[in-house]
Amino acid sequence: MGILSQLWIIFLLHGITVLCQDEGDFEDEYENEIDNEYPSVFHQIPSVEYVFPYSTITGECSKECFCPPTFPVAMYCDHCKLQTIPNIPSHIQQLYLQHNEIEAVTVESFVNATALKDVNLSHNKIKSHRIDSGVFAKLSNLVQLHLDHNQLEEVPSPLPRSLERLILGFNQISRFPGHAVEGLVNMTMLDLCNNYLDDPQLKGAHLSNMGKLMQINLCGNRLQSMPPELPISLMYLSLENNSISFIPDNYFQKLPNLIALRMSNNNLEDVPYNAFNLPHLIELNLGHNKLKQAFYIPRTLQHLYLEDNDIEVMNVTLMCPSIDALNFRHLTYIRVDQNKLTAPISTYAFFCFPHIRSIYYGEQKLPANQQTRLRTPVFRRYLTPEEYDEMEDDYHEQDNAHNLRGREEDDYFDPYFY
Ligand SMILES: *[C@@H]1O[C@H](CO)[C@@H](O)[C@H](O)[C@H]1NC(C)=O
Ligand SMILES: *[C@@H]1O[C@H](CO)[C@@H](O)[C@H](O)[C@H]1NC(C)=O
Ligand SMILES: *[C@@H]1O[C@H](CO)[C@@H](O)[C@H](O)[C@H]1NC(C)=O
Ligand SMILES: *[C@@H]1O[C@H](CO)[C@@H](O)[C@H](O)[C@H]1NC(C)=O
Ligand SMILES: *[C@@H]1O[C@H](CO)[C@@H](O)[C@H](O)[C@H]1NC(C)=O
Repeated sequence: MGILSQLWIIFLLHGITVLCQDEGDFEDEYENEIDNEYPSVFHQIPSVEYVFPYSTITGECSKECFCPPTFPVAMYCDHCKLQTIPNIPSHIQQLYLQHNEIEAVTVESFVNATALKDVNLSHNKIKSHRIDSGVFAKLSNLVQLHLDHNQLEEVPSPLPRSLERLILGFNQISRFPGHAVEGLVNMTMLDLCNNYLDDPQLKGAHLSNMGKLMQINLCGNRLQSMPPELPISLMYLSLENNSISFIPDNYFQKLPNLIALRMSNNNLEDVPYNAFNLPHLIELNLGHNKLKQAFYIPRTLQHLYLEDNDIEVMNVTLMCPSIDALNFRHLTYIRVDQNKLTAPISTYAFFCFPHIRSIYYGEQKLPANQQTRLRTPVFRRYLTPEEYDEMEDDYHEQDNAHNLRGREEDDYFDPYFY
């Protein structure tokens, strides 16, 4: 498969992100804001599988809620101005309580609700001390719990050992009890973005207890250093909008499965040269930091975001100290706008990164007296005849008039164009 078709797949996948909004994809809010028009491989939450217990269908449903006759294991009580959680019949597996005014989670409401797999309590007014002790731990089939956009001050605990996805974004969480994730052997995704967590709290959290964790989101907290003790299984790490100022040497050696790393909006000034030399890394976002220099680019990396840093020269020799003709680097996209570049990236880059499709130069931050500007905001690579044909096919499939127009002007390669 050609580069272009792969690229299209990435764009198509990204499109699906937006379409699936109703299927419980919490990432949407972040996706739309950060990387809307850029390729991204960040992980999506799979939906929970449901078993129809035909024998137990009773039609019972709380009077405040709606249980669809065609899907009687689900109970919809969202957007109802509810102040308390209604009684939950024992056959319900999926419970939607988001966008209410619920302040407390009581044992009584959940006493019969042992079949629950998926509970959505997001956008309520729940405070930590109003959650009855052990109420979630009793839900021994619970797989997914949404508690984002509440007023929690602490990561809830104990939690059921069956839990796989826990969404706690947009609370006021400043405490992470050391035992909170103990025994959560099946956790794959933990979202804690936009809370008040700091370094000491994470240090005591024992995150490596979650031996199957694939994704952890810690964006928008008060971290000043890299989180300690992350599990080796981790594939997606989100640390944007913190105050992290350095990455220890060999930090990522303990995370060999990392596919995507997002660290935009931190205080990084420099990073160890080999920091990101990881075998599976595809997406690296270091935009809005204070980096002065590039670093080693691993072979697998496809998308590199370096916008709004203090880079004066993109030193390709540093990024790519040697070329292996049998094993080319995969980089396709670089974003370097809002740096201090005065010249385009050396053409040696196109030997090192033969798959490069697009370099986004945009505007550069230059001293007031200096008027030099890169003559082109976006560089796009010349296409081989095969790629061109492929792209034509894709465009015809898409029937995209805008792209057809843009193609002739933009997509040709001339290293001396600048
Ligand atoms: C939970 O509710 C939120 C609304 O706050 C919604 O975005 C999300 O898709 C819901 N997720 C599930 C799995 O129901
Ligand atoms: C729990 O189930 C029992 C027996 O079916 C029933 O009497 C009771 O009202 C139920 N409680 C709640 C809170 O739904
Ligand atoms: C973890 O997941 C596996 C596979 O789905 C399941 O068999 C096991 O019971 C789960 N463990 C817990 C503690 O729920
Ligand atoms: C980071 O903060 C900026 C500015 O407040 C905001 O626009 C952006 O959405 C935030 N990103 C994340 C991932 O929270
Ligand atoms: C790029 O980095 C190499 C190795 O540190 C150095 O020798 C070279 O002078 C640098 N080139 C530029 C243009 O800064």
